[in-house]
Amino acid sequence: MEQEQTGQAFYSQAKLYDRLFPGNEAAVAYYRAAAGSHGERVLELGCGTGHKLIPIAADGHRCVGLDFSPQMLAEARRKADERGVAVEWVQGDMGAFDLDGVFDFVFITANSLLHLHETEALVSCFQSVRRHLAPGGRFIFDVFNPSVRLLAEADGVRRTREAFADPARGAIRVDVAETYDSAAQVTRGIWSFSTESEPDFFTAPVDVRSIFPQELPLLLSRGGLRLIERFGDFAGRPFGADSSLQVCVCESA
Ligand SMILES: C[S@@+](CC[C@H](N)C(=O)[O-])C[C@H]1O[C@@H](n2cnc3c(N)ncnc32)[C@H](O)[C@@H]1O
Repeated sequence: MEQEQTGQAFYSQAKLYDRLFPGNEAAVAYYRAAAGSHGERVLELGCGTGHKLIPIAADGHRCVGLDFSPQMLAEARRKADERGVAVEWVQGDMGAFDLDGVFDFVFITANSLLHLHETEALVSCFQSVRRHLAPGGRFIFDVFNPSVRLLAEADGVRRTREAFADPARGAIRVDVAETYDSAAQVTRGIWSFSTESEPDFFTAPVDVRSIFPQELPLLLSRGGLRLIERFGDFAGRPFGADSSLQVCVCESA
């Protein structure tokens, strides 16, 4: 798979990623509760460093985490070992995967799904999920709700988006320059990390697909899945025009 498609370079800096995105506790609570309701065997695709999966495993579920990035998986393994939590970590592509057994609950969070850009890759991912869902199992994922206003603001100009403190380097500034490819429905970004003394010490592309609300159920149905419910946030508010998220609850069709 192409580097630009997966953000492979970006995710090679797993510790930096965890500092930049220290975690969304509402998402952790939501996915823990969902795992609690839907069963014992849990699979996360694009699990990263295990921010959601490690707490779910600590609740007593049998967990498998699949990710493309060896560095993210190594950090996930280190954190799980540190907490004394057992998770099976698998390096693989969520676009097409074949694991042993089936799962009661499969999830993809934090826009990880949007690293698949081609429609066929999304459908293939959903088909793989369908093959791994136990009877009565649930598949839940969250992706952002594309705002045409925000997409139109992607003008290629580099702007500071984030700032955080890193124990090794000190204060880090993150600048992002993005353009939007409306034919591909992909936002193409360059993320640059700088300190006062080391400008651009790390630069990597990050490209993310938009999935528009009306195409989403069609993609799912081509993958053999059915959208049961869609929420606009992790508190369970109804999905609507002003929602920033699409939290999608699915089952086998
Ligand atoms: C935004 S991070 C989210 C990580 C984690 N789910 C979380 O909530 O913190 C996206 C993750 O998806 C992974 N990823 C990207 N493309 C992938 C693919 N095709 N197959 C599997 N994992 C992929 C990246 O390596 C990265 O760890």
